[in-house]
Amino acid sequence: MRRPSKKAVSLLLTCFWFVFGCSAIDTITSTHFIKDPETIVSSGRVFKLGFFSLDGSSNRYVGIWYNTTSLLTIIWVANKDRPLNDSSGVLTISEDGNIQVLNGRKEILWSSNVSNPAAVNSSAQLQDSGNLVLRDKNGVSVWESLQNPSHSFVPQMKISTNTRTRVRKVLTSWKSSSDPSMGSFTAGVEPLNIPQVFIWNGSRPYWRSGPWDGQILTGVDVKWITLDGLNIVDDKEGTVYVTFAHPESGFFYAYVLTPEGILVETSRDKRNEDWERVWTTKENECEIYGKCGPFGHCNSRDSPICSCLKGYEPKHTQEWNRGNWTGGCVRKTPLQCERTKNGSEEAKVDGFLKLTNMKVPDFAEQSYALEDDCRQQCLRNCSCIAYSYYTGIGCMWWSGDLIDIQKLSSTGANLFIRVAHSELKQDRKRDARVIVIVTVIIGTIAIALCTYFLRRWIARQRGNLLIGKFSDPSVPGDGVNQVKLEELPLIDFNKLATATNNFHEANKLGQGGFGPVYRGKLAEGQDIAVKRLSRASTQGLEEFMNEVVVISKLQHRNLVRLIGCCIEGDEKMLIYEFMPNKSLDASLFDPVKRQILDWRTRFKIIEGIGRGLLYLHRDSRLRIIHRDLKASNILLDEDLNPKISDFGMARIFGSNQDQANTKRVVGTYGYMSPEYAMEGRFSEKSDVFSFGVLLLEIVSGRKNSSFYHEEYFTLLGYAWKLWKEDNMKTLIDGSILEACFQEEILRCIHVGLLCVQELAKDRPSVSTVVGMICSEIAHLPPPKQPAFTEMRSGIDIESSDKKCSLNKVSITMIEGR
Ligand SMILES: *[C@@H]1O[C@H](CO)[C@@H](O)[C@H](O)[C@H]1NC(C)=O
Ligand SMILES: *[C@@H]1O[C@H](CO)[C@@H](O)[C@H](O)[C@H]1NC(C)=O
Ligand SMILES: *[C@@H]1O[C@H](CO)[C@@H](O)[C@H](O)[C@H]1NC(C)=O
Ligand SMILES: *[C@@H]1O[C@H](CO)[C@@H](O)[C@H](O)[C@H]1NC(C)=O
Ligand SMILES: *[C@@H]1O[C@H](CO)[C@@H](O)[C@H](O)[C@H]1NC(C)=O
Ligand SMILES: *[C@@H]1O[C@H](CO)[C@@H](O)[C@H](O)[C@H]1NC(C)=O
Ligand SMILES: *[C@@H]1O[C@H](CO)[C@@H](O)[C@H](O)[C@H]1NC(C)=O
Ligand SMILES: *[C@@H]1O[C@H](CO)[C@@H](O)[C@H](O)[C@H]1NC(C)=O
Repeated sequence: MRRPSKKAVSLLLTCFWFVFGCSAIDTITSTHFIKDPETIVSSGRVFKLGFFSLDGSSNRYVGIWYNTTSLLTIIWVANKDRPLNDSSGVLTISEDGNIQVLNGRKEILWSSNVSNPAAVNSSAQLQDSGNLVLRDKNGVSVWESLQNPSHSFVPQMKISTNTRTRVRKVLTSWKSSSDPSMGSFTAGVEPLNIPQVFIWNGSRPYWRSGPWDGQILTGVDVKWITLDGLNIVDDKEGTVYVTFAHPESGFFYAYVLTPEGILVETSRDKRNEDWERVWTTKENECEIYGKCGPFGHCNSRDSPICSCLKGYEPKHTQEWNRGNWTGGCVRKTPLQCERTKNGSEEAKVDGFLKLTNMKVPDFAEQSYALEDDCRQQCLRNCSCIAYSYYTGIGCMWWSGDLIDIQKLSSTGANLFIRVAHSELKQDRKRDARVIVIVTVIIGTIAIALCTYFLRRWIARQRGNLLIGKFSDPSVPGDGVNQVKLEELPLIDFNKLATATNNFHEANKLGQGGFGPVYRGKLAEGQDIAVKRLSRASTQGLEEFMNEVVVISKLQHRNLVRLIGCCIEGDEKMLIYEFMPNKSLDASLFDPVKRQILDWRTRFKIIEGIGRGLLYLHRDSRLRIIHRDLKASNILLDEDLNPKISDFGMARIFGSNQDQANTKRVVGTYGYMSPEYAMEGRFSEKSDVFSFGVLLLEIVSGRKNSSFYHEEYFTLLGYAWKLWKEDNMKTLIDGSILEACFQEEILRCIHVGLLCVQELAKDRPSVSTVVGMICSEIAHLPPPKQPAFTEMRSGIDIESSDKKCSLNKVSITMIEGR
């Protein structure tokens, strides 16, 4: 992010709409033009358009940037190749209707350059999306700045490639941070076979995202961080494009392609001005395309980082050992096909060596083979030298050089490399002993180190920011390890006491498992909810801190946001953003208040919870199982958007872990899946179960537990009975029944039933659930009989009405992984 010169900042500040008096104007016409240093601001005050200079240069440019004063994030520049050398510039609409940048001598430095006769008398408006739209006199858009990407990628922008014409819309880097003219790097999407995002240096690839699986970029190693909102779409008319969206998330996001060819994702809390670096395409050297040459494989945690694939050896050993890996590797033992071709021996069948967590090589070919056939298909074709099966993509295989293979830390695919039979045997012998011992030892150390550094890094990233904001450094927290404190977003105890009027009863919002929750208002005016841990809580300080660090890193519009924490002496508190509409159960099960929840709103809530859950399970890369999803843990903001809260029981899963066991079953009966309630096994699918119950509650407006003393035993039993009778309408809450969305409602009930299936394997994953709800997945399989539909099917009814244990939110295990 670039700092504007001090002069520019002060000028921007002092100069308010010189031409139009004091109202915020977002439109330029031929008579209402702007002169350096004037600016216009979009109506929601998100973006500014005007004149600016860059550090280290006195040239003046016309551009669009986020409306902040401290740091300039420029998203578009008009006259990047022809700067103004003085402050005589004008941005106006010319007689032919184009937007133009003129210098003092009326020379055209830049023009939108559309030839449209109707464009006479046109006007250009700066929108809150950062888009400058030129409309002709009929109001038809004839030119848009977002359709002419610069070096920044912002929501609503499309980076595209036309598969027929090969015309690309790409991000283009600047020459340097003080010169926005065309640099040597571009970033765009390559739709060939399976779409991938690329950064090119000239025409040579410089970075590659790995194939898009329909939800994520499989070769991006983001660990803790999100690229959620990113989407690659095939419009079926020959264009494939990348977009991203973060509606209502409370954060602005932007990607910038730097002059060094690195794509940097930054985010900014809408309420303050500092941009934070979230992720980059060069987190380590391995990210450089083809770093280790053909058949080489790159692992940033190894030294040296490059090694040959198993069964291969360096092509030029001397060069390789010197650290020049570009030559790559060659196969040691010829494959079966080659040997039989020479007629030497009746060869044994080749085998495959498995590599886990890989960014798969470039130039994948796709086949529609199923998982088991994928391997066979590869074996049958002599030119196939590797394959991989990835859910969401299917069978991928390779025939030419294997290039740009990278070992990722947690994400990635299993890659199977074809090797001669003899290689396989050697490998197995070593395998047995070495792999087990070495991986266990090295893995543990590496993971421990990674976790340690990551934690430090994250804490520093966020902790510093928030500490700077919230805590008074002159008042050190007493009795607590100072080093730890510095890693956390801390809020001073006294400040919280003031904010909540000394934790006054009147400010008490409720009683959670942790302890009481208070409403408060910080001196800055921000409304907060303060969760005060009861002193009796057995949760240790370490786990508490881990939780804070982890949760503070989660950013999603459907998760409640942690603002900070407070640890002083015995006091442990978590500070969240305040949700004026309380929890979902407060409205949903209230005969009067439920009226505000019309079907549109309920659908928004269902979808929002689904998306929040999807983020936890998948997109955040942490794989978090919430374990206590229920109506009272869904909070509603002022616009009734749902936010999942209470991560007191959440568990973090390793990337290869699908389920875990616990001896202590914590959670809320009625929302717990059978395998969790009875055997303590929990997984993503146990959260799906809870979601299904919640969904049925939202649609029916009835508590699951309100059925315990009725003949159907549970809401699920009731729903199942109605399903069998083909009478699902009866389940729908009377206050939404009249709505004309019956089909959508019935669809939701259907999805709800699929979520509460007895066997975890019969329940869809959250991504499927979201797809089903949003009708992206058209066909819904018929549900089987859900769990808990029969009287006394394993759980004692009397005790199931109670919460599992009083101190239910007492374990939060963050595994050192
Ligand atoms: C945007 O700009 C206007 C005018 O320059 C200013 O009053 C306002 O505070 C700015 N908004 C933000 C969010 O920075
Ligand atoms: C700006 O550039 C023009 C040529 O494009 C030149 O004639 C003029 O002297 C320059 N002005 C300054 C202040 O350098
Ligand atoms: C405007 O477009 C025409 C052709 O459409 C092209 O020849 C000309 O160079 C363009 N001018 C600018 C300033 O881009
Ligand atoms: C442009 O607007 C002016 C004044 O509103 C009007 O007199 C003129 O006819 C318009 N020109 C066209 C081509 O519509
Ligand atoms: C980009 O390509 C140019 C020319 O091929 C080369 O000189 C330069 O070193 C490359 N930059 C990087 C970062 O690889
Ligand atoms: C690296 O090795 C390749 C052959 O493998 C050779 O062509 C190239 O010149 C070497 N580069 C350097 C910088 O030594
Ligand atoms: C097979 O034959 C080709 C050319 O005839 C030769 O280059 C290759 O080394 C031979 N491979 C083996 C394993 O004999
Ligand atoms: C093997 O793969 C090559 C390369 O894609 C292809 O041309 C050929 O048809 C395949 N052969 C068989 C038998 O599938």
